[in-house]
Amino acid sequence: MQRRRIGLALAAAAAAAIVVSAIAAGSGNTRPAAHRAAPTWADVAPIFAEKCAGCHTPGGIAPFSLRSARTAAAYANGILVMTKLGRMPPWMPGKDSPAYLGQSRRILTPAEKNLIARWVRGGARIGAGRPVEPVGGTTNAPGTTLTLAPAKPYLPKAAVGGLDDYHCFLLEPHLAQNAYATSAVIKPQQPGIVHHVILFEAAGENAIDARRLNDASGGNGWTCFGGPGLSETHPTADSAANDRLGAPPWISAWVPGHTTNDTPSGTGVLVHAGAAIVMQVHYNLIHKAKPDRSRAVIRFAPAADTNLTPLNTILIPAPVELPCPRSIRSRLCSRDVAVKDEIRKYGYNAALIPSGLLYICGKSLGEYPRSPASVRSLTTTCDRRVNRPLRIYGVAGHMHLRGFDIRIELNPGAPNAQTLLHIPRWNFHWQDAYYLARPVDANVGDTIRVTCRFDNSAIRQPLVNGKLQKPRYVLWGEGTTDEMCLGLLQAADR
Ligand code: HEC
Repeated sequence: MQRRRIGLALAAAAAAAIVVSAIAAGSGNTRPAAHRAAPTWADVAPIFAEKCAGCHTPGGIAPFSLRSARTAAAYANGILVMTKLGRMPPWMPGKDSPAYLGQSRRILTPAEKNLIARWVRGGARIGAGRPVEPVGGTTNAPGTTLTLAPAKPYLPKAAVGGLDDYHCFLLEPHLAQNAYATSAVIKPQQPGIVHHVILFEAAGENAIDARRLNDASGGNGWTCFGGPGLSETHPTADSAANDRLGAPPWISAWVPGHTTNDTPSGTGVLVHAGAAIVMQVHYNLIHKAKPDRSRAVIRFAPAADTNLTPLNTILIPAPVELPCPRSIRSRLCSRDVAVKDEIRKYGYNAALIPSGLLYICGKSLGEYPRSPASVRSLTTTCDRRVNRPLRIYGVAGHMHLRGFDIRIELNPGAPNAQTLLHIPRWNFHWQDAYYLARPVDANVGDTIRVTCRFDNSAIRQPLVNGKLQKPRYVLWGEGTTDEMCLGLLQAADR
C-alpha cells in the first residue's frame, strides 16, 4: 500500500512536469527552463531585505550579513536548507496561534521559498549585486529617544556554588512630567552571559528605595534575586497573589531572541514624572564573566500631549515541580534538597516562590508526580481569574532549558476558548513578545491558563562548562539551570 502511494505520487509529479514543460514549450521560449529562469541577486534581494537583513546585518545578532550579494552567495546552501526547513526566519508560534503584528516579515511565502531555492540551485548568481538596506526595524513610535546606561560597568559574580547573578542598576530618565514609553530597545553589552533584562518603573517610595540601595554600593547597583527588593514589592505569598508577583510595574523586558521593541500603535507604558528605572540583569555564568554595561534606549512621549492607551504587564506563573525519573537514586532528587539549594544561592525570599506558586495556583504537591517512570513530558498549569475587564494586546511565554512546549489560553474548554499563544517547540534562544493582530478582550470571571511541558530526562539536563548536569528535582528558580513556567500578558484596563 505504502509503495503504491509513493508510486502514484511519482507518477503525478512526472505528469505535472510534463504539463509544465508543455506550457513552457507552448510559450514559444525554446531555451531550457533552468537557464531561462535562474534568478539573480536582484530577484531575491527584496526578500532578504524584508525578512532577513534586520538580524543578518553587520554587527547584528546573526552570524553573517544578508545585505550583500557576496556573503549571501557564500551561504547559499545554508540558506536553502534553513529556509526549506522553516528554521529561518525564526518564527516560534505554532499554527494554532492567532495572527500577530509583523508576522508576515517573519514567515516566507511558498513563492518566496521557491524563488530562493531557484536562486540557490541556479548557482546563486550575483548579477549587478547591489547591497540592500533592511526594511522596517526603525521605530515609528512617537516621542523622543533617551539612551540610559548604568554609571559604571559591572563584573558579575555568582553566589558560592551558584552560576547566576541578578543585579539591579539604577537608570535615571529625569522625566519632568508623566510620559509613555512607546519603544524600548535593550542592548545587552555581553549577550553571551545576559539571560534576561527587565526594566521596572520605580515611582514614589520605590524611587527613594532604589536610589538609597544604589548609593549604598557607591553607585554600583545591588543584588536582586526574586525582584528589585524595593519596599513596596517584597515577594511574599500574599503579594504573589496580585498581578505582578510582587514586582513593581514592568516597562519592558529583553530575553534572547527578542526583536519586538515598539508597543502597538496607540499604546504605551506609563512612566511617572520623577520615577527611576531599575534595570534588572540576570547574568548566567555558564560562560566566563566579563564586565557588562548594558543599556536601554527608550522612546518617551509626554502623556499630556498624547492620547495613548496605557499597557500593564500581567504575569501568570505556574508552579514548577520536576522530579527525577524513578530509575535515578540521588540526593539531588529530593525536593527538600532543592529548596535548601535555592535558599543558599538566591536567598530566603526567592526560595519562598515555589511554595507561593502552589498557593496562588490552588495546587498541592500531591498533584505532581513524585517519582514517575518517565519524566519526558511533565505538565504544569495555572489558571488565573480575570478580575477586571482587560484588552489583551501582547502575549509572551518564558521557560528555561528543559521546557519544550508552552501555551497561553483564554477560557480553555469553554465554547469561547481562544489560544493566545502556543509555542510547540520551545527554544530558549528564540524568545519574543507577540502583539496580537486583533487585541482580545477578557471579562471579569474569565480564565487565563498557562500550561508548560518539561522534559527532565538525564539527557535533557543543561550543559555547564561542557558537562551534562546530573538529574535533580527542579523547582521554579532564578537560575538558568532552574526552571520557570511564566505566561506574560500586556493588557490595558477597559
Ligand atoms: C530575528 C533574527 C533573524 C532573522 C529575521 C533571520 N535570521 Fe538567520 N539567523 C539568525 C541567528 C541569530 C542565527 C544564528 C543562530 C542560529 O542558527 O539559530 C541565524 C542563522 C542563520 C543561518 C545558519 C548560519 C550557519 O551557518 O549556521 C542561515 C543560513 C540563516 N540564518 C539564513 C536566514 C535567512 C535566509 C533569513 C531570511 C529569510 C534569516 N536567516 C532571517 C537570526 C535571524
